[in-house]
Amino acid sequence: MRVLITGITGFVGSHLADYILRENQEVEVYGIKRWRSRTENIEHIKDKIHILECDLRDNFSVKQLLETIHPNKIFHLAAQSFVPTSWNAPAESLTTNILGELNIFEGLRALKINPWIQIACSSEEYGMVYPEEVPIKETNPLRPLSPYAVSKTGQDYLAHQYYMSYGLNIVRTRAFNHTGPRRAEVFVCSDFAKQIVEVEMGKRKPVLWVGNLEARRDFTDVRDIVRAYWLSLEKCQPGEVYNICSGKSYTIKEVLDLLLSMTSVKIEIKQDPRRLRPSDVPILLGDPTKFKKATGWEPTIPFTQTLHDLLEFWRARV
Ligand code: GDD
Repeated sequence: MRVLITGITGFVGSHLADYILRENQEVEVYGIKRWRSRTENIEHIKDKIHILECDLRDNFSVKQLLETIHPNKIFHLAAQSFVPTSWNAPAESLTTNILGELNIFEGLRALKINPWIQIACSSEEYGMVYPEEVPIKETNPLRPLSPYAVSKTGQDYLAHQYYMSYGLNIVRTRAFNHTGPRRAEVFVCSDFAKQIVEVEMGKRKPVLWVGNLEARRDFTDVRDIVRAYWLSLEKCQPGEVYNICSGKSYTIKEVLDLLLSMTSVKIEIKQDPRRLRPSDVPILLGDPTKFKKATGWEPTIPFTQTLHDLLEFWRARV
């Protein structure tokens, strides 16, 4: 079986490749990169996977890729995934995320092949969630609050439309926040963990810069998330959408306190106004019942373990 992972050089994609190589010996793993992509996340598996050059925004490039691989399964993870960047580069975020996906769908239609496709949608799509709406079910209205969230809503609806119009075997997953080793340093847990480790190593004054600590997020370990993504194409219904989350939420202040409890250094906390967003989603707390019923999935890694592993990741790198 040939599996294509878009975004394989990234955080989630590289963990998914690790998972597939470990658990499914009969699978050939394909991934894509652009000419300037950083590849350190897949350095350790580079002899076990096939990497092709492709830019998802270029429909010629995508069609050629699909024609070469003829994948049986596609995990579409590649995206502009950092919410603040989407305010600074909204057109780029919308183009990469929505048109990149469109090029895959149209490439498959042109080639008349119908693999199973997982589309990595996001809890950010729920956006403005009211207190009485948590835990959030898949049926909750989508009220996106950032260009990123609009782009993911576009991906979500486009995927549904291609299922309805052309019968593509698409499963949409709405993952809530996830973190763990290899998380890029711009995302909150990784950002805080790296700053703490820099203080531990004497590379920064004992001051930790933060943004909005009031927001609540539902975190799952990336290694549980990639297992869920694999299961989504084994057990879920095409055309359906599934929340993937822990069903617990923490304020960002609580996340910070957990990280600080794992270090012996004393650190002053300061808010950096540049870390505040034009609008921040106040609460994301998901209901994973539908996905659990369909797949039997349960997250297994406690959040404290994830944060510990993230600190260790940075301790080995700073
Ligand atoms: N990045 C960052 N840095 N976030 C901070 C900081 C900081 O210094 N201080 C507070 N926060 C708050 C943000 O305002 C937000 O409420 C929360 O921490 C999480 O921020 P991120 O880690 O940047 O993630 P996100 O929730 O915006 O988006 C992530 O999760 C989505 C799923 O819900 C990304 O992984 C998205 O790609 C993903 O779709």
